[in-house]
Amino acid sequence: MTQTLTIRRPDDWHLHLRDGAVLAAVLPETARHFGRAIIMPNLVPPVVTGAQAAAYRDRILAALPEGMTFEPLMTLYLTEDTDPADVEAAAASGLVKALKLYPAGATTNSASGVTNFDKVRPVLEKMAEIGLPLCVHGEVTDHDIDIFDREAVFIDRVLDPIRRATPGLRVVMEHITTSDGVDYVKSNTENLGATITTHHLIINRNHILVGGIKPHYYCLPVAKRESHRQALRKAATSGDTRFFLGTDSAPHTDENKESACGCAGCFTASNTMSCLAQVFEEDGALDRLEGFASLNGPAFYRLPANEATITLTKGDAVTYPDKIETADGPITVFDPGFPLHWAVTEA
Ligand code: NCD
Ligand code: ZN
Repeated sequence: MTQTLTIRRPDDWHLHLRDGAVLAAVLPETARHFGRAIIMPNLVPPVVTGAQAAAYRDRILAALPEGMTFEPLMTLYLTEDTDPADVEAAAASGLVKALKLYPAGATTNSASGVTNFDKVRPVLEKMAEIGLPLCVHGEVTDHDIDIFDREAVFIDRVLDPIRRATPGLRVVMEHITTSDGVDYVKSNTENLGATITTHHLIINRNHILVGGIKPHYYCLPVAKRESHRQALRKAATSGDTRFFLGTDSAPHTDENKESACGCAGCFTASNTMSCLAQVFEEDGALDRLEGFASLNGPAFYRLPANEATITLTKGDAVTYPDKIETADGPITVFDPGFPLHWAVTEA
C-alpha cells in the first residue's frame, strides 16, 4: 500500500538566501516546496533599513523562476544605530515581519550586531508596542565561554534579562540546539517561540568530529551532544505549538566550507521535507509534521496558514543532487547519513 501524506504547504521561518549568483541558484530549492520564508538579513553589508529590505525583496522576487510562487518575509538586522521610527514604518507597511538580533561576532556576517544591549532598548520597546517579533541568535560571544555552552549562558545572561526588561516583547529563539533552550521555551507561556532546524534533529557533535572532520556538518550554533538532539526531537514532534521549523539553510560554496577556516552553515533547502518526514515517522509523529512545518509558525507570526498543500509519498530511496551548482562554485546539499524514503510528489 502506498503511504502518502498531504499537508498545508510548509514555510521556513529562518532562511539564508544570500544575493547575486548564489541567490539565483538556491532560491528555487526553497520555493519548490515552501510557500514563504523569513529571510535572514546578514548580507554584506547587512539589511538594516526598511529601504534596504524593500530592495532585497525585489532582488529575491526578480530571481524567482517563472511559474514558482514564493513570498519572502523580510527582516531587518538590528544594530545599535537602528531607528525605531524606520522599524515602525517598515512593519506598518507589511514589508518587515521581524528584526534579527545577532550578538556582535556570534556567527557569519555578524560584525554589525549588538554589543551594548542598552543602546537597542528604544527599538525593543517599539517592537513590544507594535507586536513585531525579535528573532534572536542565542549565543554569547565571550571568549571564556566554551562554544558548547554559549546557548545556555546566553539564555541566563542576555535573553532572560531582555525579556524581563521589555514586557510584551515577542521573541523567537532561533535554531535552538540544547535542552536548555527547549526548557526555557516551555517554562514561558507568553510571547516566546523557537525554531528548530532540520539538521539539528538529525546530527549531534559526533557527526562533525568522529572519523575525520566533516565541514558540511559544521554550523552555528554548533550541534551539541546526543541528549540535546533527543530533547530537540521531542520538542519538534510533541505537537507543542511554540516550536516550529526554521531550517537555517545557510549556503556556502564548497571552497569556503572545505577550508582551513571553514564557514558555518548547513545547506538543507533541497531535501528538508524528505528529512523531516523521516524524522517524524521514526518518532511516531507523522500526524504532527504539519503542525511543525506548516501551522505553528504562521500562528506565532499572526499570519494565515498557506491554503495550498504538498503531498509526500513513501517509496524507494529519494534521489536529490549532492551539490547545487552556482556561478560562484558548488554548494553541497546536507547529507542526513541515511537513505530518504519520503518524496515530495506534489507541490
Ligand atoms: C549562518 C550563515 O551562514 O549565514 N550560519 C550558520 O551556521 N547557521 C548564520 C547563522 O544563522 O548563524
Ligand atoms: Zn541562520
